[in-house]
Amino acid sequence: MRLSFLTSGIFLVLSMISTTLTSLITEYWWITGMLGGGLYLWVFIRKRHPDEESPWFEVGQTIGDLLEEQEVRFGNIFVDEENPNMIRFLIQCPKNGGANFETEVQTLLSAFRMRLGNSRLELKPDYDNRAMVLLLPRPESERKKVSLQESLEAVKKSKVPLPVALGQTNGGKYPVLDLAEMPHLLIAGTTGSGKSVFMLNLLVSWLRFRKPHLILISPKPTTFSAFKSVATVISDANEAVQALQSMVIEMHRRYTSPGPHQPIVVMIDELAQLMVASEKPLRAATELCLVQLAQMAREASIHLVLATQRPSSEVITGLIRDNIPGRVCLRVATPSASRMILGDQHGDGYKLRGNGHGYWLQGEKLVEFQSPMVTEEDVRQVVSPSGAILPIRSRGLSRAA
Ligand SMILES: Nc1ncnc2c1ncn2[C@@H]1O[C@H](COP(=O)(O)OP(=O)(O)O)[C@@H](O)[C@H]1O
Ligand SMILES: [Mg+2]
Repeated sequence: MRLSFLTSGIFLVLSMISTTLTSLITEYWWITGMLGGGLYLWVFIRKRHPDEESPWFEVGQTIGDLLEEQEVRFGNIFVDEENPNMIRFLIQCPKNGGANFETEVQTLLSAFRMRLGNSRLELKPDYDNRAMVLLLPRPESERKKVSLQESLEAVKKSKVPLPVALGQTNGGKYPVLDLAEMPHLLIAGTTGSGKSVFMLNLLVSWLRFRKPHLILISPKPTTFSAFKSVATVISDANEAVQALQSMVIEMHRRYTSPGPHQPIVVMIDELAQLMVASEKPLRAATELCLVQLAQMAREASIHLVLATQRPSSEVITGLIRDNIPGRVCLRVATPSASRMILGDQHGDGYKLRGNGHGYWLQGEKLVEFQSPMVTEEDVRQVVSPSGAILPIRSRGLSRAA
């Protein structure tokens, strides 16, 4: 009874409001029209001008223009993420989703590439956010260098025994991984992709904050020559095999003596060149040592960091690959090279941009990063005789340990 009384009361009030509104609209239609129009215009302008402060405002406008020309309905456009290599725009498409959306996005892709003059631009549907994602690579000249200083700060803060600082991820973080945990790392990338610089970055951070024993092997004598005062530096294939064999002996010795042991890192740059340049028996010996070290060195605190230009099967044999779980992929030449390093689902390593742009394989997922640039001066600072770092003897490891 009371309920129906209430309902009829509400109905009465509503009908009074609607009568008043109707009479207002009919009498002052022009005011209502202007208000409505203004509101529409405001919403429209808001759509097109997502963030006037943003340096990407004009690109956002171009995106909006193009979508309107193509009669695509869209909501807000905003910059979702900026990283050293690209800008990620999110374009809300509230009404979209489903199979047609996919084709619509495909059709738009080439239009966007033309309009924005960027043939490597990518457009993808984002079903979770009812949106499209537009990835706009920065022009080469505007790619941001990642500072070594910030990367080193992250290492300094971390408690990780053997830090591997990737540089900056797409989310702006500076993750620090642990080589001791991995316990070996494989780095692949074509010439100029940034393998050597990535290794220098590791060396600088270790020499600054940790003191692993270092054995640095590269067929190019110049790669590690700056580290002669603090590491064993080898460029000859015969000497390299000898060093690896002594590591295998050291590994067995460590198994029988109680730890903890001083960590040893064996770093090999241009593994392919080393393997190919060597005669067959030498190559076989190298591979045997690497496999033994890769399989058993975790408990002995001996770690491998291998870099190769060609991740082909004759260089990274199945045995080596299976025993080195840590993977960094810088720009590689082909999708198949990418899959060799990152696994069958990840063929995109050839799209990376070189100069330290890379993927780190974390479980099944990829983490995209930009590694820091390391200059000769950065290296000089950590190897200078006046610095706190003492030279490490090249032989006689058992005593040093
Ligand atoms: N992380 C980086 N940031 C900026 N530039 C880089 C970076 N890594 C490499 N480069 C540029 O690329 C060049 C080649 O790098 P390098 O490490 O020698 O390549 P690779 O050893 O794979 O052939 C460097 O001299 C530098 O100019
Ligand atoms: Mg190199």
